[in-house]
Amino acid sequence: MAVAESDLNKRTYAVWVSEIMLQQTQVATVISYYNKWIQRWPTLQDLAKATLEEVNEMWSGLGYYSRGRRLHEGAQKVLSEFNGEMPKSAEELQKLLPGVGRYTASAIASISFGQVTGVVDGNAVRVLCRTRAIGADSTSSAVTEALWALANILVDPVRPGDFNQAVMELGAIVCTPKAPLCSECPVQAHCRAYQQVIKEEKAVSKRLLGNTMSKLSCTPDIEECGSCSLCLLDRKSWVSSLGVMNFPRKPAKKPPRTERTLTCVVTRKRNTDDTEEYFIIQRPKFGLLAGLWEFPSILMEAELTETKQKHTILDRLAELMGSSVTEANLQHLGEVVHIFSHIHQTYHVYINSFSDTTVITVKQEETECPPFRWVTKAEFHQSAVSTAMKKVFRLYGNLCMNEKLFNKGDKQECGFETYGEKRKGRKHTGPKDSGRRQLSMDSFFRPAVKEPL
Ligand code: ADE
Repeated sequence: MAVAESDLNKRTYAVWVSEIMLQQTQVATVISYYNKWIQRWPTLQDLAKATLEEVNEMWSGLGYYSRGRRLHEGAQKVLSEFNGEMPKSAEELQKLLPGVGRYTASAIASISFGQVTGVVDGNAVRVLCRTRAIGADSTSSAVTEALWALANILVDPVRPGDFNQAVMELGAIVCTPKAPLCSECPVQAHCRAYQQVIKEEKAVSKRLLGNTMSKLSCTPDIEECGSCSLCLLDRKSWVSSLGVMNFPRKPAKKPPRTERTLTCVVTRKRNTDDTEEYFIIQRPKFGLLAGLWEFPSILMEAELTETKQKHTILDRLAELMGSSVTEANLQHLGEVVHIFSHIHQTYHVYINSFSDTTVITVKQEETECPPFRWVTKAEFHQSAVSTAMKKVFRLYGNLCMNEKLFNKGDKQECGFETYGEKRKGRKHTGPKDSGRRQLSMDSFFRPAVKEPL
């Protein structure tokens, strides 16, 4: 995509955008975001002029939102401090641009202006550890440095960008974390991990045939290069069934922490045309999902009964929109689970519907609340909202749609697609899908059961 651009500055900017998007995100997901971004902001001057709000809107759904913010900051910095000229080496890119680390700098430099430098991202770590049978902890600094040294030796001096992208792509589609496609691998003949697995298989079959190998362990004879400790894989920790997946070796990951959040979809009907609108507020400028918009949400410090959950929400809604909120309007809708990189988040979703706009008199200037606004369904989807909030909205939409089917003949239109309609870009996978738990219609309309206090 970006490499076809003949203007070096424009090309470096475009590769920078693509590499930032590709951090932690698969190529297939990035493509449409990248195309839209470049169409809207073809140069870094264009990006520098955009607002952070516009950047967050564009990034909505891509995750790790600080990446977009840093790109925007970086474009403003290049414009104000370097007269719009992108840095011209990996070292400078890393030193001068926020959010650009060693890997991203080397990727941009090799792809955009052919600097002869290797790259080591997660995919390359796997490819290199397997091809060289590096069994020491791949996250240790000794292995990291060794992998960079190896990548710098291996890189093709004539086409460094293509070489690096080929290694990353190999890791993404052939040398995968699980079920690698060794039989289709173009570098199988050079892969020491593969050779060790074959050796092990031979040993096992000899043993089965009852020859002298029978008394030997079937752990492969792990070869060491003799000059370093990186190749070493503790023989005791070799798991035969894993094959080449014994590499790379990593320390166990810390499990994500568990959080529960109350969230309330507040709706109203516009008096003029009956269009449904939703109340969203902006998150703080720092921290998780900084500056994104969400339905009013409260992190639960402890487990609460449903009654207490409702009171907590009502208190928050009263702060946001005055005394017009009553318990009678508030209904529990279901739960949505969303896994952030380090948080397992469960949203307990409620709904509060106003029949019209007259009850809601509060104006932004009259509150000490964060910025808020009322949006239509279409505006919600164009806003800078997280994937988690989109899931919450989908849960609400499904309920609304059920209600429509339930009340056949009712002309009320909530703007959600019916089951028969085609969903865009997403397969409908039924109620088991993606952690959503939706209440049945029956339980939704059943009066709340009194809970013990
Ligand atoms: N996979 C293929 N090319 C890539 C690139 N440039 N960056 C990250 N992953 C890739």
